[in-house]
Amino acid sequence: MRTNNRIDKIKEYHFKNLDIIKNQVISTGIDVVDLSIGDSNIPVDNRIIEALKNSFLKDGFNKYPPYEGINELKEAVIKYYKSRYDVELDLDEVVILIGSKEGINNIIPAICDIGEYIIAPNPGYPVYATSASLWGCNTYKVDLYEEDGFLPRMEDISDEMKKAAKLFFINYPNNPTGAIANEKFYKEIIEFCKNNEILLCNDGAYNEIVQGDTKTSSILQFDKEKTSIEFGSLSKPYNMTGFRIGYAVGNKEAIRALAKIKSNVDSGQFKPIQYAAIEALSLGEEYLSQIQKIYSERREIAEKVLKEKNIEFFETTGAFYILAKTPKGYTTKEFCEELLRKHGVAVAQGGIFGTVTEGYFRIALTQDKERIYEGLNRLDRY
Ligand SMILES: Cc1ncc(COP(=O)(O)O)c(C=O)c1O
Repeated sequence: MRTNNRIDKIKEYHFKNLDIIKNQVISTGIDVVDLSIGDSNIPVDNRIIEALKNSFLKDGFNKYPPYEGINELKEAVIKYYKSRYDVELDLDEVVILIGSKEGINNIIPAICDIGEYIIAPNPGYPVYATSASLWGCNTYKVDLYEEDGFLPRMEDISDEMKKAAKLFFINYPNNPTGAIANEKFYKEIIEFCKNNEILLCNDGAYNEIVQGDTKTSSILQFDKEKTSIEFGSLSKPYNMTGFRIGYAVGNKEAIRALAKIKSNVDSGQFKPIQYAAIEALSLGEEYLSQIQKIYSERREIAEKVLKEKNIEFFETTGAFYILAKTPKGYTTKEFCEELLRKHGVAVAQGGIFGTVTEGYFRIALTQDKERIYEGLNRLDRY
């Protein structure tokens, strides 16, 4: 069988391989505390489930949905942006996605020609670069440093790359560091991309996942001309990772190009999931602050245990991750494998997000605080 030669250059998705090892360890009777993938144990709110159930058997539920999403859901996204961020959007500035991962992948051929460049952060969500490779594009990695709060240094981007790049992915609140961006940074990067005719894409999958006094924000609050786009996801705030629904909002032309790709390669998401998403977006601030409180408590307990064990980590209040330094005397791979196989704690190796985080591991706060406490206490053995 002769496959596309780009397939050989990309690796199998890390978490798919990790699942196999986790299941092997579980089958030997070890109690595994899974703090690896960003898939929370918080149950889906009943109101979302009810909306899903009630929309089954509605007229046309089994028919092809509109390619760009049902208008009611687009309206719900518009309402949410207005109430949450005071950002006004029109219907043609919104497209519904089958999860934000789908949109991140499809925006690349919508904007870039074969052989062109995207800019992606190092460390970052691996999908930016793998999707670029799959579409025959190249990725220029911009390193993020802990001392800068993991924000990119725009001066690191060469004049040549400023001309060559067509897309710039950023992601705040950030996976894997938990870093959050501020208004000054957003304004600076919006200006940078505008001046260089680069489409800025903020991956806002964790926009609602912040702790303490940190306020949730959208890049469109700082981009009045809407030169950029933002991806949103219902996976993390509404615990709908398996329901697969997200959206892209912002620059009209980019949204139109993305929607054009989508209408040719998929036919939209199952309508009942779209109705469930409408209900989710209507849950409002009370629901979201409960979710934020749960992650605050989890972060607090995790940080306390890490400090007791003298494990260094990046202190932040964004997303539901903690980026911690690998204990001395181990490579991260050795450490993570031993931690899982011998002590039953699954975490993610920093290297899967980029070279900058090779000496780190990522803890996902996706289990109850008691389980996080139990799992991180097993670090005693280091
Ligand atoms: C930074 C980032 N962006 C996007 C996604 C994809 O989310 P979705 O479930 O909406 O496809 C993830 C999932 O983990 C993520 O970490």
